[in-house]
Amino acid sequence: MSQPKILIARAVFPETIARLEAHFEVETNQADEIWPKAELIRRLQGRQGVFTTGSERIDAELLDACPDLKLCANMAVGYNNFDVEAMTARGVLGTNAPDVLTETTADFGFALLMATARRISESEHFLRAGKWTKWAYDMFAGSDIHGSTLGIIGMGRIGQGIARRGAHGFGMKVIYHNRSRLAPELEAECKASYVGKEELLETADHVVLVVPYTPASHHTIGAAELARMKPTATLVNIARGGIVDDAALAQALKDGRIAAAGLDVFEGEPTVHPDLLTVPNVVLTPHIASATVPTRRAMADLAADNLIGFLTQGKALTPVNPAVLAAK
Ligand code: 8YV
Repeated sequence: MSQPKILIARAVFPETIARLEAHFEVETNQADEIWPKAELIRRLQGRQGVFTTGSERIDAELLDACPDLKLCANMAVGYNNFDVEAMTARGVLGTNAPDVLTETTADFGFALLMATARRISESEHFLRAGKWTKWAYDMFAGSDIHGSTLGIIGMGRIGQGIARRGAHGFGMKVIYHNRSRLAPELEAECKASYVGKEELLETADHVVLVVPYTPASHHTIGAAELARMKPTATLVNIARGGIVDDAALAQALKDGRIAAAGLDVFEGEPTVHPDLLTVPNVVLTPHIASATVPTRRAMADLAADNLIGFLTQGKALTPVNPAVLAAK
């Protein structure tokens, strides 16, 4: 019997490719070219599975043009690149890569929060530019982390990880807003109190966004929300571009409406709003919150496990539309 055929849409660890090659006929993209949709469709012809990252859009047009496709395995916890409804309607399974990146991503969220509040990037640029000629009482004076109020919007696994770090590690008062309230034992473990979004924006010293991207979460933070925040507050986005209105944020940073921001994700990334590149009080990183070697390996392994499990035995570890499995 011939092996199923899969496409790995982006460059990945050679070990991941070797594992997949034991089960499938594999086409790879180790040159890491960004294929336009037509090219992705062309390469998917006759293939049952695709290994994707958050960058490949899987929608009705692509699915209709690739009738052999049965599984899209994302090497990402977020899957807003999938049109889940279109996939489910066509019996195509989607899988994501949750859990394995939770602690690493929470570490990074906290690092970005600290870099933002303590003005680490801005001061490093100053030093590198040869501008450090003397000590000054107010030089790069920022805001405290310990003992301050941390507001988390989106209290899933990563949000909870950030809450624990803040509450247990830094004695922060943690408030959160989420679509649904956490179970009391989880709230107690995270030492977190549920509040409305407006109260969170008005009282938090540091706001961290960890909400998944959906049409409903588009511009969760825009000019009106930024206006509610304290002028001394900081904002961190490790969720997705589009959760923040980047143009409104750049303006708020320029006007001193809030003190500073830390951004790992951007609207239209890898393009970054030009005004964000020129304001000093923002820390910018290129979507690396999950980027440690062990975690990226675990994410790739989980995507590979889903491909192997589903295409060889009809089982998937982390389906995003389990209705497809139930219908089999
Ligand atoms: C991924 C992420 O590295 O998991 C996610 O949702 O945003 C990142 O960890 C990125 O999406 C590429 O797949």
